[in-house]
Amino acid sequence: MSRTPRYFLQSYGCQMNKLDSELVESRLVASGYERAGSEQDADVVLLNTCSVRQHAEDRVWSRLGVLRQEKRQRPELVVGVLGCMAQEHRRYLQARMPHVDLVVGPSAFGDIDQQVERARSEAAARRVAHEEAVQKDPRATPGGAGIVTVDHGVSGDTIHRDVRVRPHRSQAYVSVMRGCNMPCAYCIVPTTRGAEISRPIAQIVEEAQRLCDDGVTEITLLGQTVNAYGRDLGRDVTLARLLRALHEIPSLRRLAFITSHPNFLNRELVDALAGLDKVSRFLHLPAQSGSNRVLKAMRRGYTFERYVARIELLREAAPDYELHSDWIVGFPGETEEDFAKTIELMEAVRFAQSYVFKYSPRPGTLAAEQGVDDVPDDVKAERNRILLEVQERHTAEKNQALVGQVEEVLVEGPSKVEGRYSGRTRQHRIVHFAADDPALIGRYVPVRIDEALGHSLVGVRLAENAAEDGARARTEVRA
Ligand code: SAH
Ligand code: SF4
Ligand code: F3S
Repeated sequence: MSRTPRYFLQSYGCQMNKLDSELVESRLVASGYERAGSEQDADVVLLNTCSVRQHAEDRVWSRLGVLRQEKRQRPELVVGVLGCMAQEHRRYLQARMPHVDLVVGPSAFGDIDQQVERARSEAAARRVAHEEAVQKDPRATPGGAGIVTVDHGVSGDTIHRDVRVRPHRSQAYVSVMRGCNMPCAYCIVPTTRGAEISRPIAQIVEEAQRLCDDGVTEITLLGQTVNAYGRDLGRDVTLARLLRALHEIPSLRRLAFITSHPNFLNRELVDALAGLDKVSRFLHLPAQSGSNRVLKAMRRGYTFERYVARIELLREAAPDYELHSDWIVGFPGETEEDFAKTIELMEAVRFAQSYVFKYSPRPGTLAAEQGVDDVPDDVKAERNRILLEVQERHTAEKNQALVGQVEEVLVEGPSKVEGRYSGRTRQHRIVHFAADDPALIGRYVPVRIDEALGHSLVGVRLAENAAEDGARARTEVRA
């Protein structure tokens, strides 16, 4: 009897890809596959890929080189490229990477199990063909099944999700929309993910309810411009309404959403954020740059002043929200003055966390076609370093201000340091504390913050009633 087929799936890129990978896994498990411990142990190797920067793609190209070698030893191995690079490079993959069996774009995952099955059924025949080919040319590479599904497959969102297959028992992602309709000049995502499609509120609530019935207490909603949710479904379908609907699920305790676009942070949303206490107290609102000239060339649709005004709107209504941002340094034509404005914006807002990226031209985007990648790499690296330094100072100051406070921490698991567990606060900060009890995972525990590290906090777990009354005498809980 043949053994249970095993898959090895690796995800690159954003949270959407992580969620897509979970959906792919759930389909494969439902079809009788099991996860392999390593690539060598797998019958099927799937790479769920990202195109957002050249570096992300380079990692996958080199993996595919290694897999080509592997396939010479094991011609029956099935290799699949999924996600954004499948969409972006389908022709190249087909023409130049014959050892790739499957090329599946991000809107065609729904029947991935059947696609994998088809590829595997050809594997046995391929071994025979390869043995013949090697007689003639010892360096022959075995061909793939050549299955390419990109634009018109079955989307992962449209299938009934098996909520039991997920990496964390108490935390889950839920996709609320696919694609992106924004015109950002540097970005490949609208090409790889296609146009915006929102899922109806009822469908999202139903999925969230099933997750919560299965033990989830924290849900993170995903969309490339999540706060533009619903605009394709009619005027009254908005993120604010969706948040209110999800808030009604009794066992749900935390509700987050990423990523927001500054243009859609309006009064209605701000009021919802202020009024809904289950919503996590952070907003990921990428600014990208502080220079109005660069923002215009990026086609972001706002200015430094308008961005700050939106933040003020939020902070007036809900001062406890922390802000997170993404930044691109070295966009075509970015001068020292432009960069100084970026630092100024960072100083003005004081974010809790930032991701900084060096501009990477993406073929086919406006910035790559019309602009010149004229900021030298060492200048990009230097601006990157400076921005991170400013951010680290703000993070450290904000973390320091929390020393002595009690935070509610959702426990995620053992931390890298032995004898400690870690989890996240409502503002998404990582907290480590002494513990040695797997039963804590998924629980909400009060932790008194004793120390601020660069990117995280260290504290002591308190008895469970302490978070409700910070002033009361607190009992420390030893590991
Ligand atoms: N939809 C989200 C995230 C998009 S990709 C948003 O609009 O915010 C995540 C981040 O990658 C972006 O916020 C941007 O900072 C960065 N990014 C996108 N394209 C890039 C490029 N060509 N070069 C460098 N960074 C890029
Ligand atoms: Fe890319 Fe802009 Fe869409 Fe974000 S909003 S995914 S940066 S095009
Ligand atoms: Fe990358 Fe595609 Fe996400 S390009 S960032 S995996 S949408």
